[in-house]
Order: sequence, then C-alpha cells, then structure tokens
Amino acid sequence: MAEPGAEVAQIAQLATSGERMVERLRKQAFLPDRRKVLNLRFGITEAAQLLGCSPNRIRAAEEDGRLSPPPEGSTGRRLGYGIEDILHMREVLAASPRRGPKDHAAIIAVQNFKGGVGKSTITTHLAHYLAIQGYRVLVVDCDSQATTTTLFGFNPHFQIPQEATLYPYLALEATRDDLEYAIHRTPWPNVDLIPSCLQLFDVEYELAAAGATGESVISARFRKLREGLRNAGENYDVIILDPPPALGTISLAVMQAATSILVPLAATTPDFCSTVQFLSMMSQVLAQLREVGFETNYDFVRIICSRHDVNDPSQSMVLKVMEEAFGATLLPNAVLDSAEISHAALRMMTVYELEKPIGTARTHKRCRGNLDEVMAQVEHLIRRPWHRAQPASPEERLNVA
Ligand SMILES: Nc1ncnc2c1ncn2[C@@H]1O[C@H](COP(=O)(O)OP(=O)(O)OP(=O)(O)O)[C@@H](O)[C@H]1O
Ligand SMILES: [Mg+2]
Repeated sequence: MAEPGAEVAQIAQLATSGERMVERLRKQAFLPDRRKVLNLRFGITEAAQLLGCSPNRIRAAEEDGRLSPPPEGSTGRRLGYGIEDILHMREVLAASPRRGPKDHAAIIAVQNFKGGVGKSTITTHLAHYLAIQGYRVLVVDCDSQATTTTLFGFNPHFQIPQEATLYPYLALEATRDDLEYAIHRTPWPNVDLIPSCLQLFDVEYELAAAGATGESVISARFRKLREGLRNAGENYDVIILDPPPALGTISLAVMQAATSILVPLAATTPDFCSTVQFLSMMSQVLAQLREVGFETNYDFVRIICSRHDVNDPSQSMVLKVMEEAFGATLLPNAVLDSAEISHAALRMMTVYELEKPIGTARTHKRCRGNLDEVMAQVEHLIRRPWHRAQPASPEERLNVA
C-alpha cells in the first residue's frame, strides 16, 4: 500500500515536472534569444494597404526625407518595414486610427464562464490585430491560469511574481492605488500587458474570507478596478480584459469595469448550452449589481464564434442554431478552426506574430484573412462611440497630411 500522503507528493512532482516542461517549451519557442522578439516585416504594398494610401505616397515621403527608407539586408535587398516603422509612418502621414482626445478608451471584457471557449485566443489575436492597425492596446490578464501572459512570452511561474499582477491592487490589504506598477512592455511596441500568475487567485480567497466586512471590501474593489482601468485608459485606445472562466470576485469586477463585452464560444453544443447559462447568469448578476449601485451601460455586447470547423456538419448546424437564438448579437463572421492557430499557440504566439506560415501558405493566408475579417468587425464596434465613426478615408488622410 502506498505511504500516506504519497499521492499528494506525486501531484507536487507532476506540477514540478510540468513547470520544467513549460519553461523548456518557452525557451524552444524563443530561441536564440530566449526572450520573445517580434520579427514581423511588411512590404511597401502591405504597408500602403494598412495606411490606406498608395505605395507612391510612402516612396515620396522617403524621397523628400520625411521618412527614412526601410533597412536593407547585406545584399542591399530591402528587408521590409517593421511594426515600429509602420507606426512612425502613420504619424508622419497622418494615418493614425487612434481615438480623439475626448473619446474614451474601449474597455472590452472577453468573457464567458465556460472554460476553453477561446477567451485567451480572441484576447491575444484581437490585441495583435489592433496593434497592426495602429491602436495603443493594453491587455489585462485577470485569469490566474495566465494563458494570455504565456502567449506574450512570459513564464508566469518563473517570471511573474504576485506583486507584478493585479494582486497588490485588488487584495484585501491592497498596497497599490493605481495600476502603473503592473503595466509591462511586450514585444509589441504598442501593446502593453498587465500579467497574471497563479497567486492572483489569492484575491478570490481573501475577499471571500473577509467575513462581515467582505461585502463592502468587494464593492470597494469593484469601484477600484473600474477607476484604475479608466485612468490607465488615458494612454490607450483599447483595453482588453481576459477574466477567469468562473463566477468569482474578479469576474464580477471585470464585468462591471468593462464598457463592452465580447462573449466567445465554439460552434459546439456544450459551448452553446453553457453560453446560454452564462448569459442568464450575467443578466441576473447585472440586475443585482444595479440594485447596489453598480450601473453598467455597455457600448456593445456581442457573441463571437471563436472556432468553427467547416468540415464538421454538426458544427455548421450548431452555428445555425446560434444565429437563430442570438440574432444580430452574434457577429456575422466566425473564426474558423485552424491548425495555424493551434500550432502558433504551441510556439506561444498568435498568427499575427508568425514571420512565415507554419502549415501551407494557403492555410496561413486563409486563417489570417479570416482573422482580419472577424477582428475588423470588432474594430468597427470599438470605433462607433468615438468622434469619428469610421477610419478616415485615404482622401481624408491625405488632406490632413
Ligand atoms: N479557431 C481556433 N482554431 C484552432 N484552435 C483554437 C481556435 N480557438 C482556440 N483554439 C485552441 O483552443 C484551446 C483553448 O483556447 P483558449 O485557451 O483561448 O480558451 P480559453 O477560453 O481562454 O480557456 P480558459 O477557460 O482555460 O481560459 C487553445 O489550445 C487554443 O489554441
Ligand atoms: Mg484563457
């Protein structure tokens, strides 16, 4: 018979060996630097498309010295523009899509209490899509599983202490009054991250155990998160929140701090049923929050199909059911199930970070095109409350320049 406590020790061993493996995967993914770096390069045609102008306009600005030409390789071949170059180009050619000074940053919660529905995948792909379009983005990992933190190249276990997460801001004995301390740079020049690690979960324990004073502490933390994110939003166009897949204090705080909600789910029956339950729970929770003075007025609430395998007829049927049940709240385009997304995740990347296809060029192009289409739907919703409802047309941009 096994020693008493042997199974418990075995679980600890499994955790240690798993943690070592995570670190090995991370190091393999980021070789040779062991630190995640972004090596994206855009050709002049792609850059012009992103800016909404002609390649000639970029060439002209390079010739008259307003822009420096893209770096050349040792053979004298143009290497293409990096993301910093594109951002600089947007400034010089007045082609920035950023919000106006009077507009507020969109604070989007990618939320569903069901696990594995694609919250972190949508969060990270949306962040990187918006970064390429020229927005300033803050991603807040509110989930102690820290998948999003991992996708940004950090190992939550070794590199992110509790003090670097939301914990000092939301803890029972909070030691921080604004969120500045938690904002980390990422490999993306215009995407910052508030990371997470397992110990963020202590917030849940502490607030649940706060006894009679608990309710007032929880209310205070709700207000604090809302206020902290709004203040942080002064430096960003979009804040994306990735909450845990459960109804806990952090999830509730996220729900009332957000200005918009995106509910992801895959085109499967279990996801559909759980999402219906989530929506019903959410409506009850919002009604209860309103009773105690937490008014939530969302700019948009949309359901997004995060994974649709077009080769599976049952999924197409579920998608039809979703369209019927959710109507216009369901975004018209679904994210297609793609090996490119899961292979990129294995390298701790999003598809937007890949320098070259992992699968065939066709698979990559299809996946990227589909993601652009889906994320552009969200971009449109983000811009709606802003002063200028649509990105400026090329003519408008050129007139300003
Ligand atoms: N469209 C897709 N195509 C292929 N794989 C996908 C797609 N969407 C998500 N995945 C994969 O599904 C898995 C779960 O996704 P993800 O981690 O984003 O879900 P989650 O809702 O954040 O999970 P959790 O509830 O654990 O936080 C991941 O391995 C991800 O790479
Ligand atoms: Mg997740």
